[in-house]
Amino acid sequence: MKKVLVATSKPFSKDAVNKIKGIVEKNGYEFLLLEKYTEQSELVNAVKGVNALIIRSDIVDKDVVEAADQLKIVVRAGAGYDNIDLAACSAKGIVAMNTPGQNSNAVAELVFGMLILLNRNFYDGSTGSELRDKTLGIHAYGYIGRFVAKIAKGFGMEVHAFDPFVDKAFMDADGVIFESKVEDLYSKCQYISLHLPANEKTKNSINLPLLSKMPKGATLVNTARKEVIHEDSLLQMFRERPDFRYASDIEPAAKTQIEAEFKGRYFFTAKKLGAQTAEANNNAGLAAAQQIADFFEKGDVRFKVN
Ligand SMILES: NC(=O)c1ccc[n+]([C@@H]2O[C@H](COP(=O)([O-])OP(=O)(O)OC[C@H]3O[C@@H](n4cnc5c(N)ncnc54)[C@H](O)[C@@H]3O)[C@@H](O)[C@H]2O)c1
Repeated sequence: MKKVLVATSKPFSKDAVNKIKGIVEKNGYEFLLLEKYTEQSELVNAVKGVNALIIRSDIVDKDVVEAADQLKIVVRAGAGYDNIDLAACSAKGIVAMNTPGQNSNAVAELVFGMLILLNRNFYDGSTGSELRDKTLGIHAYGYIGRFVAKIAKGFGMEVHAFDPFVDKAFMDADGVIFESKVEDLYSKCQYISLHLPANEKTKNSINLPLLSKMPKGATLVNTARKEVIHEDSLLQMFRERPDFRYASDIEPAAKTQIEAEFKGRYFFTAKKLGAQTAEANNNAGLAAAQQIADFFEKGDVRFKVN
């Protein structure tokens, strides 16, 4: 009997766990659960003998991969998979997957929650500003970027996007203005929302030359990853542009400094919570379980990332 382990230091909701268990058992597999563990060694021990693994932000490093003597597939219930050592998985023939799109709406809604909070001055009673008729630049037009575009159009915003891997026709169909150069996105849009993955190409790529192109009232929203931001540039942008504001779902390294120097111009969530909705929780966990069943039963590797 195949064994499927759900290993989550930050657990899924009870409802999601029950539904995942249902899918696993319906397919005739054994369901195993490791929740709220605090030591990486607990994960290393738990993966011995399991055939499939479902994780969230848990770290699947070389040690985990080495200990997982029967592992065929690991699925990150979520979009970003930089917590999985893909090379180590590939070397052992382990398929790594994510569950793209399952938490996109949750992240997209947070973008607007943070934008309105900044635009209404934290609801402090002072005069704020509206999103209607303003320009929004979506940096990377993947699952989340597309949800952001849809919501932004509902707000009556003019939506631009830059993504070197997405065709103009695709954006045209969504009524989104295609930008072929990233510089143009920043120079045309007052609001920029980041939705690019963290990789060797994108790390530190959001830098001063780019940010300083933004028009008056420049507001940057980061629900992607902190690594994509060049932190010194961020600080410099705060210093040089009193109109600049920054909202982030990812605590910047310079958080204390920003809080001390730039009051009223930033917002940081208490912890990364873009995907923290009951709906996203359920969607991603269920999708992960279904992808494992489809992999074992039909050889489906559609969501393979390695
Ligand atoms: N805050 C949160 O809780 C949360 C939740 C989910 C995802 N995320 C982050 O958001 C990111 C986007 O998620 P998604 O589901 O939309 O992923 P996705 O894979 O659907 O989209 C990523 C897009 O980035 C584009 N891209 C790749 N390299 C690029 C580059 N150099 N410049 C511009 N675009 C580039 C790709 O073409 C793709 O369209 C994830 O990588 C993850 O880091 C955060």
